[in-house]
Amino acid sequence: MNRKVTVVGGAGNVGATVARSIAERELADVVIIDIADQKAAGVALDMYESQPILGSDARIIGGADWSAAEGSDVVVITSGKPRKPGMSRDDLVKDNFAIMQSIAPNLVKYTPNAVIIPVANPLDAMSQALFKLTKFPRERILGMAGVLDSARMSTFVAMELGVSVENIHSFVLGGHGDTMVPLPRYSTCAGIPITELLSKEKIDAICKRTADGGAEITKLVGTSAWYAPGTAAAIMVEAVLKDKKQVLPCSVYLTGEYGINDLFVGVPVKIGARGCEQIIEIKLTAEENAALQKSAGAVRELVDVIGM
Ligand code: LAC
Repeated sequence: MNRKVTVVGGAGNVGATVARSIAERELADVVIIDIADQKAAGVALDMYESQPILGSDARIIGGADWSAAEGSDVVVITSGKPRKPGMSRDDLVKDNFAIMQSIAPNLVKYTPNAVIIPVANPLDAMSQALFKLTKFPRERILGMAGVLDSARMSTFVAMELGVSVENIHSFVLGGHGDTMVPLPRYSTCAGIPITELLSKEKIDAICKRTADGGAEITKLVGTSAWYAPGTAAAIMVEAVLKDKKQVLPCSVYLTGEYGINDLFVGVPVKIGARGCEQIIEIKLTAEENAALQKSAGAVRELVDVIGM
C-alpha cells in the first residue's frame, strides 16, 4: 500500500490492537517496532497471515530495527509499562519518561514528517515529553485519551438508556487521569443532551465510572486495558490518513486556549492529514472551567516531575 503506519511497542496488547485494526481495515501497511524483536516479528507475521482471510492487502512487518519505520505517515507510541491493579496512571511517569527518551531520537531520525500519536501513560505528560524532546510542530503530536474516555462514557450512557451506542456522543475534556472532566451538558443521545434524559444521580455515577474506567479494567484483568485504547488510537490514525477533518478529543499542546499555556491537555480538535488542524474552544460554565483547570494542574505537576 502507499501509506505506512508504525506502531512502536506494537508487540504489546495495545500496540497489537492498533496494528490489527489498521491492517484489517486496509488503511496502510503497518510496521511493528518493539524491543522484543522476535515477538514483534511473530506478531506481525501472525497478523499478516490473517490478511488473506480478511481480503486486506495491508502488509505487516515487525522487529526492533527502526529503519523499517522510515517514511511513515503516522507513528503510534504504545511502548511503556502498563498499570498493575491499584496503580494510578501517574505512578508510571518516571519509567515511561525514560522510554520516551529512548524513542524520541528515533522519531527525529527516521520519521521526521510523521504525525505522532502517543498512547503511553501518563498520557498528557508523555505527549509533552515527546513534543519537547523531538521539537516537532505541535500540530503533529496528538495524544490519545479523549477518544477512549468518551467511548467509555458513551458505553455507560448507552447501557443506562438501553439504546444503540451509535446514538450517543459523549464529551470528555482535560487530562487523562482521575481529574478528567466528562461534560454531560455536551453529551447527547440522538442530539438530545443526556441531562434531559437521565437523573443527576445517574449522570454523576456515569461520570465517575468514566473517570475510573481504566482502573476498572485493570482491576478485572490485572493489567491495563487494550481493546478500547487500541481501537481509539486506530480511529485517530484513520482520521489523519483519510484527511477526514474529524473532530475528536485529543491531548494537544495548548498555548493559551482555554486559558492554559505550555501544556498538553485534552480538548476537541479537528484532525486531518496535517494532524491537529484546529483547536475548538467552547464556552464552559464556571464549574466546568474550574474542573478543567484542576485537571490541567494535575498534568502540570507530572510535567514538572520530568522537567518538561
Ligand atoms: C486506560 C489506560 C490505557 O485508560 O490509560 O485504560
